[in-house]
Amino acid sequence: MEELKQVLVIHGPNLNLLGKREVDIYGRTGLAAIDKRLKELGRKLRLEVETFQSNHEGAIVDRIQAAMGVCRGLIINPAAYTHTSIAIRDAVLALDLPAIEVHLSNIYGREPFRQKSMLADVVTGQIGGLGPLGYELALRAMASLL
Ligand code: DQA
Repeated sequence: MEELKQVLVIHGPNLNLLGKREVDIYGRTGLAAIDKRLKELGRKLRLEVETFQSNHEGAIVDRIQAAMGVCRGLIINPAAYTHTSIAIRDAVLALDLPAIEVHLSNIYGREPFRQKSMLADVVTGQIGGLGPLGYELALRAMASLL
C-alpha cells in the first residue's frame, strides 16, 4: 500500500467553538465540519490529514514536537496565540517543515493587536480572510509543496 504523506493541521484556542462563537467574524461552520472536509480533500490529494485542537499553548507545542520525523507539513491556525506565542514560533522553527499559517478572518483588517503574527516570517505562507476555504487552499498548496 502507498504510504501517504502526513500533514498536521493545528487549531488553537477557542476554535473548538467555531459555528457558535462570533459568527459574524468566524462564520457558522463548525470545526468538526472543517476537519472532515480536510480529511476528505486530503485523501483526494494523497495526503493523510491529522487534526488537533487545543486551548493550551504547551499542548500545541507538544503536538508540534510529536510531529517531528512523522509529518511532512504543518497547517496551523494558532488563533489568539498567533499574536503572543514565541513558544509556538520556536516549535514551528524546530519542526523545520513547510508550514502554512491560516486565519479565518483577515487579521490585518482587525484590531491593532491582531495585526502582528509571531509566525508570519517563519512560515512558508499565510492565508487569511477567506473563512474555512482558507484551510482547503492551504491543503492544496501543501500538496504542491510536497
Ligand atoms: C483567528 C484570528 C485571531 O486573532 C483570533 O484570536 C482567533 C482566530 C482567525 O482564524 O481569524 O481566535 O486566528
